[in-house]
Amino acid sequence: MADAHQVRSSWGPIVVLTGAGISRESGLHTFRDADGIWATVRIEDVATPEAFARDPVTVQAFYNARRRGLLDPAVVPNAAHRALVALERAMRQAGGDVLVVTQNIDDLHERAGQTRLLHMHGELLKAICADCGNVTECRADIAVEAPCLACGAIGRLRPQVVWFGEMPLHMEEIAAALARCATFVAIGTSGNVYPASGFVELAHQAGARTIELNLEPSVTRSLFHEAHHGPATTVVPAFVARVLDGPRNRP
Ligand code: APR
Repeated sequence: MADAHQVRSSWGPIVVLTGAGISRESGLHTFRDADGIWATVRIEDVATPEAFARDPVTVQAFYNARRRGLLDPAVVPNAAHRALVALERAMRQAGGDVLVVTQNIDDLHERAGQTRLLHMHGELLKAICADCGNVTECRADIAVEAPCLACGAIGRLRPQVVWFGEMPLHMEEIAAALARCATFVAIGTSGNVYPASGFVELAHQAGARTIELNLEPSVTRSLFHEAHHGPATTVVPAFVARVLDGPRNRP
């Protein structure tokens, strides 16, 4: 491992954006791959506030099934999740910072030990009342007629997930981190969904080095300085090893 100061000063602060691809090898489907979620389910039927108002039975059933899938004991963090934790710890020891911004609603980053983490699209293991905004932990199915324990409203509990047409979470903190990052890394995301797909341009404006780590070129590949394509469990540990090896690897 190179001199801690060198690592921090030449790579940090680092902002990492993750998408569904980082959890694919943990057994969770992505959205837009051939076997992706949107290949069998329509966004308009399950992932908009209008769908929830129109057909809460279908929406709750969709997220209840995904929550049960996430809680399957076979679904655990993989080497890519673990490598990002090692990067966070090494940079912290060096007095530097790594912030992971995830589009994922799973809890695999937390389970791996990531602490500097923002869920911009919400969390599947939380529920929110659409009336009073009360947020609770949620590891069981949400019943369509479930009462909110805070305000008593019936049938207003929903997964704490950001649906299409809704504002993502933590956008001010994310914009501030992008404005001062020296390295921006996008992992396992196709680049199809805004505002996450625009983060690379904000990082460029900050003068950051931008790196794509993905199974295949994303739709925003041309916006990155460099890209390494392959399974996340291969390309992410390789990237982290390169960072911890110090500045000599930074072009
Ligand atoms: N390792 C690395 N990348 C992978 C792997 C893997 N094992 N498997 C798939 N990928 C890549 C795919 O090539 C694809 O580019 O992950 C990407 C997944 O893209 P999407 O399915 O579009 O998922 P994501 O970019 O996270 O979607 C963004 O869209 O549907 C909404 O709210 C949802 O947060 C989600 C957002």
